[in-house]
Amino acid sequence: MKDEFKEIEKRFRELGIEGDDVFTLISSKYVQFLNLDLSERLNSLIEKANNINLNGSKSKIEELLEGIVKNDKNGKHLPALYQFFHSKRFRDNTGKFFTPRNVAKSMVEMLPLKKNAIIFDPTCGAGTFLFETAKKWDDLGCTLLANDIDNYLVTLTEIILKIQKNKKHKLKFFNENIYASDISIKDYNNKVDYILANPPFSLKIENFNPNSKLLKNGYKNSDALFIDLAKELLKEGGKLVCLLPHSIISNKEFLDLRKIVEEDWHINAIMVLPEGVFQATANTTTRADIIILKKKGKGVAVSKTVFGNISSVGQALNSRDALFSKDDLSEMLKKQEVRKALEIN
Ligand SMILES: C[S@@+](CC[C@H](N)C(=O)[O-])C[C@H]1O[C@@H](n2cnc3c(N)ncnc32)[C@H](O)[C@@H]1O
Repeated sequence: MKDEFKEIEKRFRELGIEGDDVFTLISSKYVQFLNLDLSERLNSLIEKANNINLNGSKSKIEELLEGIVKNDKNGKHLPALYQFFHSKRFRDNTGKFFTPRNVAKSMVEMLPLKKNAIIFDPTCGAGTFLFETAKKWDDLGCTLLANDIDNYLVTLTEIILKIQKNKKHKLKFFNENIYASDISIKDYNNKVDYILANPPFSLKIENFNPNSKLLKNGYKNSDALFIDLAKELLKEGGKLVCLLPHSIISNKEFLDLRKIVEEDWHINAIMVLPEGVFQATANTTTRADIIILKKKGKGVAVSKTVFGNISSVGQALNSRDALFSKDDLSEMLKKQEVRKALEIN
């Protein structure tokens, strides 16, 4: 894909357009060419695109843009295009490590299908989790909620989900800081069936959520706050399927955190991922694990815990990785005993 993107970059550069502007033009073309339902957010994207100086090459640029969209009518390339054209902004200090598609797909596979489920990604990035969720729910009704602190990423997620034009899926978009206390996503407290997420890891937090039990117990990091936010949002029996730093599972300093988590949650799965999972999408060796927690409550059945030590996820983990086509994670999810423990059908 990278070679194709480099070719697109070269052709835009020849027409005098670079970086952010290229992506603004591309994303607004998806909205217009695919006739998406407009909203205030999508209208302002179109307006931003209309204000770009096309240096007298309007028809050539239009032709180039149409070619890109015609080749990708389901918007699958949009997250990678964003990363390619926003690489500088992408690497700033906001924890924007997108989840590789294979991993996101397997995490969605871990959700039990349920009619009219409310599914939330509170740090949605370019919408990969919800895109895969929409595919899995297909003609079953559901509500998909997307939030990110970066409004441009919310716009991108809106495009990616609206492209599917699935009338059975209700879509809602938010642009809020999940660590703040007075935010409207809290209207969904105790209503959400599933949270899927790859929140930013171990960020310094300025606004604290006063209801965070883990924070009150001395854990002043974004990972702890995120787990407590998920507890507020989920229904009893609801599941959090997320990536968290490996240190949360392995380090002694988080021993008490793990004990407090077990007071409120059933631990449904811990899958340790190999180093290099984010190498391709974010050029980092940060270690992460997939954690599934089920919120405790009256009548909520205790679930078994699946432990997995995953050594491959269907992509190269470094430049010398020759086993990249193996995908232990998706293989593991084919096993009957794993499916039973995760309550997937
Ligand atoms: C690790 S990325 C994951 C994105 C996407 N879910 C994925 O898996 O590809 C984390 C996302 O969290 C967003 N983010 C960072 N701080 C946030 C905050 N305080 N509130 C909401 N979103 C935030 C970033 O903009 C980024 O898109």
